[in-house]
Order: sequence, then C-alpha cells, then structure tokens
Amino acid sequence: MSLPVVAKVPFGGDYNPEQWPEPVWKQDYELFELARIDTVTLGVFDWALTQPAPDVYDFSLLDRIVERATAEGRKICLATGTAAHPPWLARLHPEVTRVDFEGRRHGYGQRHNSCPSSPVFRRLSAELARRVAARYAANPSIVAWHVGNEYGGACYCELCAAGFRDWLRRRYGSLEALNTAWYTTFWSHTFTDWDQIEPPSALTEHWRGPDHTAFQGITLDYLRFSSDAMLANFLDEKVAIRESSPDVPVTTNFMGMYRPIDYHRWAPHLDFASWDNYPPNDDSPAWMALSHDLMRGLKDGQPFWLMEQTPSHTACRDVNPLKRPGVMRLWSWQAVAHGADAVLFFQLRASRGASEKYHGAVIGHAGRADTRVFREVAQLGAEFDRLGGATLGARTPARVALLFDWDSWWALEISDGPSRLVRYQQVVLAYHRALWDAGVDVDVVAVTADLSRYDVVVAPALHMLKGDLPGRLAEVAARGGSVVTTFLSGRVDENDNAFLMDVPGPLGELTGVRVDEWDARGPEFANPVLLRAGTDQVEVTSRLLFELVIPQGAEVVGTYQADFYAGTPAVTRNIVGDGEGWYVAAGLDQEGISWVLHQVLDRHQLAGPYAEVPDLETAVRVTPDGVRLRFLLNHRADTVEVTACASGVDLLTGDRVEGGQLVRLDPRGVMVVREDG
Ligand code: GLA
Ligand code: ZN
Repeated sequence: MSLPVVAKVPFGGDYNPEQWPEPVWKQDYELFELARIDTVTLGVFDWALTQPAPDVYDFSLLDRIVERATAEGRKICLATGTAAHPPWLARLHPEVTRVDFEGRRHGYGQRHNSCPSSPVFRRLSAELARRVAARYAANPSIVAWHVGNEYGGACYCELCAAGFRDWLRRRYGSLEALNTAWYTTFWSHTFTDWDQIEPPSALTEHWRGPDHTAFQGITLDYLRFSSDAMLANFLDEKVAIRESSPDVPVTTNFMGMYRPIDYHRWAPHLDFASWDNYPPNDDSPAWMALSHDLMRGLKDGQPFWLMEQTPSHTACRDVNPLKRPGVMRLWSWQAVAHGADAVLFFQLRASRGASEKYHGAVIGHAGRADTRVFREVAQLGAEFDRLGGATLGARTPARVALLFDWDSWWALEISDGPSRLVRYQQVVLAYHRALWDAGVDVDVVAVTADLSRYDVVVAPALHMLKGDLPGRLAEVAARGGSVVTTFLSGRVDENDNAFLMDVPGPLGELTGVRVDEWDARGPEFANPVLLRAGTDQVEVTSRLLFELVIPQGAEVVGTYQADFYAGTPAVTRNIVGDGEGWYVAAGLDQEGISWVLHQVLDRHQLAGPYAEVPDLETAVRVTPDGVRLRFLLNHRADTVEVTACASGVDLLTGDRVEGGQLVRLDPRGVMVVREDG
C-alpha cells in the first residue's frame, strides 16, 4: 500500500470545528468552497472529547464533524487523536506523563506529553485508534489515517529505563557484548547486571545538557531506543487501525530535519511519508529543498504529503514574520516540485484561545474571504483544480544522491571533540545547497539506500560508517561514479568506537588519503584554501575544522594557505577504477564547496540549467506515464528572463513554451512546464 487514492493534489489542512459552535461550520464550508479546499484533517487533538472518562467513549461530536465533511464532499485525513492525553488519564495514571532529562516527573500539561513506555498509554492509545478506525473505516471520504502528531522528545522515567534495558538485551544479547560496545573499561563502567544500567540524563552520564555525555555509546543507544519506543507507539495504533481498515494508507506527520527521531528507521512502517514545513526564517528555500528531498527519500522516492505549512505566519516563535505576497504560493509549488502530492495547511480556521490563537490560518477570527491570505489561498486552490492529477505519482529522476544519517548526526553532535561548532545540519545544508544552486535534482537518502542508480554520491560529515556502506561507495567509484566525502567522515563504527586504522577508516582506500592530525579553531579564524583544476584556480576560505592530510595516492586539488600546515592538502581527488573519490578535509565556505561539486558535476555533465541565475530554482518530476514536468521557481524579488530548455506547455497558464524561447518569471513566479514527447 502506498499513497492515498486521489484524483488531484489534495488541498486543505487541519480543521478543528470542535473548537467553535456549529453555526460557524456553515460559514467554514462556504469559504472552503471559494478556496477550493477539498481535504480536511480532522480530530488531531480530540482525545479528551472522544474519551471523556476511563470507560466512556463519546464520538457524538466527531460523528457530526465527519458527517458534515462527508456531506460537503470533502476528503478526510482522519486523526486518531492521541497526541495529547486527557487530564483524567494523567490523574488516574501519573506514569503516563514524562520524566524529563533533569529527572523531574511532569504533572499534567501541554501535548506530545505521553511516556512512550507506559503500558496504560500504549493500551489506551491503541484502543482509541481501534475505535476511531472501526467507527469510520466504512466512510469512503476517508483517504488517509493520521496517527498521533509530530512524535518527538524523550522520557527518562523508570518504565523507559526498563524498556531501555529490554531493548539493550535484544540488541546485544549479553552484557559482555554491551560492555564491549560501550567501551566500559573506560572510567570503571563495566556493567555486571542489566539493572545497573540507567538512562543517560542530567542525573547520570550527562553534564551541560543532552549533547554532553561521558559515554557516547550509552547516549547514542538511548537516542535509538527513544526513537524505537515512539515507533512502537505508532505501530500500536497502526495495527489497531488495520483491524477494520485494511486499505486506507496510514501516516504520521514528520518534521523534516528533526534530530530526535530517526525517520529512516520509521519510514518502512508508514504507508506514505508526510511532513510539516516550518522553515527557520523567511529566507529558507535551500533549507526547504533539502528537507523535501529528505522526506521524499524516506520511501525510496515515493511522493509525500505536505501535511502542514502556515498560510501566513507561525505563533510559537519570539518573532513571527509574515509570508510576503506570493511566498505561500511559491513555497507550495516548491513542495510539489520536490515530490509533494498534497498541499495542506495548518490551519484552516484560527483557534480563538490558547497558545495558537495568533497562528496564521486560511480563515481568521472574523471569518472573512476578503483578506490577502484568503485570496492567495483561493488562487492557489484554483491552480490545483486546473492542474488536476498532472503531477500525482511523479518521481524525481535524480542522478545525484546525498547521504543523510541520523546516527552520524547524533554521534557527531554528542562527541567531545574535535569541535562543538561543527553542526551536522549546517554541513549537509552547505553541500546540498551547492547542488541546489547548480540546478541538479538530488535524492537525499539513507546510507542503506541502493546507490547503483547514481553517478554522484555526496556524503558530508559521514561520521559513522555502518555495515557494507564502504564497499557500496567503492562500487560507485569502480563503475565510473564520483564519491565526495568530507572532514569528520569515517571516524567511528556503529557503536561510536574509533576504527583501529588511519582516518577516514574504511574510506581510506576510496579517498586515497590518510588524516594525520586535525585542528579546530573558533569561527573568527579562517585559513585560505587555494583550489586548482587545470587553469581554473580560486582562493576560498575554510573555517572551524582543518584536517591535516597525507595523500596515499590521491592528487591534491586544494591546499591550505596559512599556518604551519600551509601548502598541505585541504581537498584531494583519488582516481579509482573509472571513477573518483574526493576528500574535502576542511570546512570550506560555500564558494569552495560549490567549486568542488562543480568539478564533479561537470565530469558527469549533470549541472542543471539556470545555475547562473541565483535563487532561480529548477526541478524535474517524471509522471508514471513518462511525461517530464520541469518546475521553475523564482525565489527572487525581481523578474527574471531565461531561455526555456525544452518545448512544452506551462500547466499554470496553458501557454505554449518553445525551447530556446525567452520566458519571464515574475518575482516569486512559478512555471510548471509539461515537456513535449
Ligand atoms: C505543528 C503541529 C500543529 C501546530 C503547528 C503550529 O506542526 O502539528 O498542531 O501546533 O505546529 O505551527
Ligand atoms: Zn517514560
């Protein structure tokens, strides 16, 4: 089973009519009609309504909400409603609340607040999901099940401690294996009984917060355990749903680059991926491009749903900027360009009270259609109506893969040394950005993905090497491909223990280098790097991390220009078979990274069109019947004119475009060209 069965891109979002009186619902649906909103996500936070007391289930209000949406002809993404437990549950069973990193047992409050290991929570959340599914499964308007909401965080209670010990028993089998993996001879930590093992927290292995631990192996396993414990919660509900709904796809909304949950481990258990796009600021197209590519990579390139985005602004930040005119539309099309098969908002109508009363919504408190935001949503709704099913199921024909690995992210950021300033996301973002700037389609994939279909594999800061990955990377090069990896790669095995060999460990042969030592400096310190290929020569800067490399067969492409290691390699390229292995030993600036990746892309003639126009994004999707759709997205505040790279029809205007002809994109403008033949 995969994506929900729909005839066009579902357009709508989270809708909470339980928060306002029924007469308002009528107004809501009139406005939905105007905006072509055809899909509503219902019941995300309804547990206290649907189960008001331990033995009382009451679906009367949810019945009316679902009946109304059905009668109005809307598709429904129906939530199980388990993301916030009701007050009575916490009163009756205090162990359903979480114990935080500092060891404090929380009282009732907030949401996303249940201990994942609590048997009561697990039983009652599954029971609610079972009842919701049994009650509504026969309704053909329901196209998807939405389990929980934005799983995340962690709990450090006694139940989780016991769950952790069970998880460890399954992982290691014996204490001996565990002691070896955790390297417990260090600081007298040899465990002689499973019960001696504590969750790593502020009261045990940590100081200065969750990233500072005395034992990386323990903390790493707790991160893995926590991710798995919440996955078990998701599966409890999914299994319960399947008892009465065998065919409707199940998802939960992810959060893109969200560190606490290893989405690669979750993805096989979801029928389709979906995620909530709340970029860090209003200058984030590259960040969003990476996030979308990562979400699309979760299920082997299968399209995903954009489950939430704000039509205008958020509320949870200290300062909540407004999306400028045209930005919501542009970012919605960007999601589609990267593989979204649904465009949904949080939220369709604004709450009156509590923490999100100032969060943006399609319909504000006054219920008007004559607002800028509503007009823009309605215009976009009309575009998706015209588009019909043209983009559904289309795949990205990427020849370039970028490896993303939660284990490496965790291991790098909980490591003492070489530098706390090297942040995994920033490194990955910079490498992805270089590809994005070059107009290349990129699959962001797990280290376990099939690499045989790619010409180029980029592995930034791949700190941890697991399983047969080194061999599979070597194969990419052996058959003529290019592999690019960087500083802080190939450092540790799956238990976070260093390899007993030269850095970059099992990548040494592919990269043809050995790292002899490394230097970390503050952000104010820059070491210039001279990059050279043929007659092409450029001086860029490097910061934060400087590995001192001794080539073992690799040619030197870039050299440090300062300090006692001036003149030594900062970037190398190793010829292997018909291909090559690059090693970038320093924290190059964006210009330097782009230069390196340009050499690589040029070798495979992969650089996309329009790379010379900054912030003009382009992406391709190929429909199930082989039709190529070329998306052009102008993230600039000015108009751009470019030459069309192929003939076709712009699906948004119906206008024909001839290859070679000049086309104009307004500020924030979008084109979706269905290419001929
Ligand atoms: C998340 C949640 C929603 C809402 C929005 C607000 O994505 O899933 O319930 O709180 O954030 O931005
Ligand atoms: Zn717990």
